[in-house]
Amino acid sequence: MNLTQFPRRNYLQGPTPIEAAPRFSKALGGKVNVFIKRDDLLPGCAGGNKTRKLDFCIADAIEKGADTIITCGPVQSNHCRLTLSWAVKEEMDCHLILEERVPGSYKEDGSGNNFLFNLMGVKSTQVVPGGSDMMGEMEKLAKELEAQGKKPYIIPGGASNVLGATGYVACAQEIQQQLFQQNINITDIVVPSGSAGTHAGVAVGMYGINSGIRVSGINVSKPKDVQEENVYKLAYETAKAVGVCGELPRGEITCFDGYVGAGYSLPTDSMVEAVKLLARTEAILLDPVYSGKVMAGMIDLIRNDYFAPGTNVLFLHTGGSPALYAYTDTFK
Ligand SMILES: Cc1ncc(COP(=O)(O)O)c(C=O)c1O
Repeated sequence: MNLTQFPRRNYLQGPTPIEAAPRFSKALGGKVNVFIKRDDLLPGCAGGNKTRKLDFCIADAIEKGADTIITCGPVQSNHCRLTLSWAVKEEMDCHLILEERVPGSYKEDGSGNNFLFNLMGVKSTQVVPGGSDMMGEMEKLAKELEAQGKKPYIIPGGASNVLGATGYVACAQEIQQQLFQQNINITDIVVPSGSAGTHAGVAVGMYGINSGIRVSGINVSKPKDVQEENVYKLAYETAKAVGVCGELPRGEITCFDGYVGAGYSLPTDSMVEAVKLLARTEAILLDPVYSGKVMAGMIDLIRNDYFAPGTNVLFLHTGGSPALYAYTDTFK
């Protein structure tokens, strides 16, 4: 694999830590040793996984002469927050199209990420109903901005295209090097599976370096078959782009859909348990929409002996904690 063929902005400033979580592991009966890859500590306003993807996507935008970024996400989108934050640093305009997936969930003066959109001076936000054609909406806005003399660049939802996923191929390489340096032999990594770029990138990276580490994705909205297909399509294209030898086997992509609950962003009891347990044992914050549900999945997999006893298992913490402040009632 050759990742240096793609331009990037060097947003990372070094690897994020891999930490042991001994108190958390003990609270789960000590069946496995949980380690946490702290991508919640990545640079960019309030951290999180999108910085790795935007490192490549915004470099492409700048190379193409853009002065304006357009992107989209749900009303409490971490991706929108991080895209805006990097646009601020690059002195580019940033416009957001927000999808109201749960009717009535958008509040103009809402807390969490929504508060941060306004604080960081978003150029415009437009709220559209759930199920809208988000790419179509962004293209419409791009045409309007072009007519005003701007040079807009569209980043898809979650920055989940080949360039964005490449950020997580790089993360897999980073993890392998750190595990070697810290002398931690892991068997498994658990990752979120949403817009698919994180999962696809890690799966391609772990396969491409021949790591033998099993990658398990926990869905945050879609059913297993639909999500596995989405992830595989992106992983296949990403593997080709970064130069993985041979064809990525379909079996490299595994998703679990049992932890979504009633739907995307809707709280579950197991998410609340996971968020509280990690906060109370390791003082690490998860979020209610992504990392909390992913950790709920991992806890359940530990309890049901999905991982071999005594092994080391890595949880990829993708951030999102600003959304906690939009859900304080859920934790009362
Ligand atoms: C905090 C957090 N974790 C995980 C994800 C899911 O990552 P992906 O969209 O790459 O599947 C997201 C997506 O927005 C997120 O905000």
